[in-house]
Amino acid sequence: MTPTTKNIAVLGSTGSIGRNTLAVVRQLQGFRIWGLSGHSNLTQLADQVREFAPAAVACTARTDGTVRDLFDRTETPMAWTGRLMWGPQGLVELASAPEVDIVVAAIVGRAGLESTLAAVHAGKRVALANKEALVVGGQVVIEAARRSGAQLVPVDSEHSAIWQCLAGGRRDEVRRVILTASGGPFRNWDRQQLQQVKVDEALAHPNWRMGPKITIDSATMMNKALEMIEARWLFDLEPHQIEVVIHPQSIVHSLVEFVDGSVLAQCSPPDMKLPIQYALTYPQRMPGPVRTLDWTSAWKLDLNPPNAWQCEALELGRLVCQRGGTSGAVLNATNEVAVQAFLEGRISFAEIVPSCREILEQHQTNPTPTYQQLIEADAWARQEMNQWILA
Ligand SMILES: NC(=O)c1ccc[n+]([C@@H]2O[C@H](COP(=O)([O-])OP(=O)(O)OC[C@H]3O[C@@H](n4cnc5c(N)ncnc54)[C@H](OP(=O)(O)O)[C@@H]3O)[C@@H](O)[C@H]2O)c1
Repeated sequence: MTPTTKNIAVLGSTGSIGRNTLAVVRQLQGFRIWGLSGHSNLTQLADQVREFAPAAVACTARTDGTVRDLFDRTETPMAWTGRLMWGPQGLVELASAPEVDIVVAAIVGRAGLESTLAAVHAGKRVALANKEALVVGGQVVIEAARRSGAQLVPVDSEHSAIWQCLAGGRRDEVRRVILTASGGPFRNWDRQQLQQVKVDEALAHPNWRMGPKITIDSATMMNKALEMIEARWLFDLEPHQIEVVIHPQSIVHSLVEFVDGSVLAQCSPPDMKLPIQYALTYPQRMPGPVRTLDWTSAWKLDLNPPNAWQCEALELGRLVCQRGGTSGAVLNATNEVAVQAFLEGRISFAEIVPSCREILEQHQTNPTPTYQQLIEADAWARQEMNQWILA
């Protein structure tokens, strides 16, 4: 290890982004996995601890336990002497540990907000995959980063693309950003077909292998609504500066249009390892594990406007960009509960977006909430959505 080696804490290392981060770090010089966190998948977490021998590990599904609890599910016990932390507080400690240079925030959903905020308060570079943290608490997170000097760098491929394209001009020269969306497995389906969607069909994304929640969000287009809100906060954009186009090939990851009409795009194969790597190595670019585009064969790129049903979720994203305050917490919470209910067969696919809209419309937005008020808005929305499902 050289004195310039960067210590990384991967929050959510057992998930899709977490595992991709480890795959990137395996092939990069100058980075060390200092900390890992897992929730329910302790077998996988134990395997990762065995491979990377991190200094600290946080397990969040339980509030106490011993190293033996982490390892006794696997056949070969290991004499690991690092620090083991349990429960949500353990995650906060890991995210703010002084030894950590970069926190990869890869927990799914609102469960990642507190640790992301802890990393921001501690002034870390935060490689942000956990978009829900910004959707719920954008203003609070951005203001905390301003105060602490934390560097929020995007991992979402679309936001990484925008970030890279923004280097092509000054901020006041940006007319708008255009987020691309694959459209998911149902991009060519009509409303009637959407009534019949089965869980395994919604979990079969044509281009990306991701965790179940974001895969369902991609199918409903709610993922793009959340990304509009994420872009609004990350890049300080006005709602009218954020457009969405459907791009089935997932090669153009997003675009930035400047005031002179020039449009810059970032292109690469659909592989999350590339934006993860850039978030770690920025401002440098390094060779990594991602294959390159094949310029020797013919291929085409389609860019189409979203259709009427796809626009319904996007309108919710735009509404939250306009309203700000507690509205993001409400949209996120209703969506998290609805997605879980769909996965458990308690509501239909076609009910996800309309039910979120209904509850968002009942909500009186508090434009300048405290952290505690965001948590209260989240709790209110979860309760309302659970009642909606039971009704
Ligand atoms: N996957 C992608 O390609 C992709 C692309 C762009 C953005 N993102 C964003 O990245 C984030 C992670 O997505 P993912 O696809 O990697 O999700 P995932 O595969 O479902 O992984 C989620 C991770 O969060 C952990 N976790 C779940 N509930 C938790 C809780 N209550 N407390 C603490 N940790 C918890 C899981 O632990 P266990 O597995 O141990 O339970 C796992 O490590 C999401 O915000 C998503 O929108 C993902």
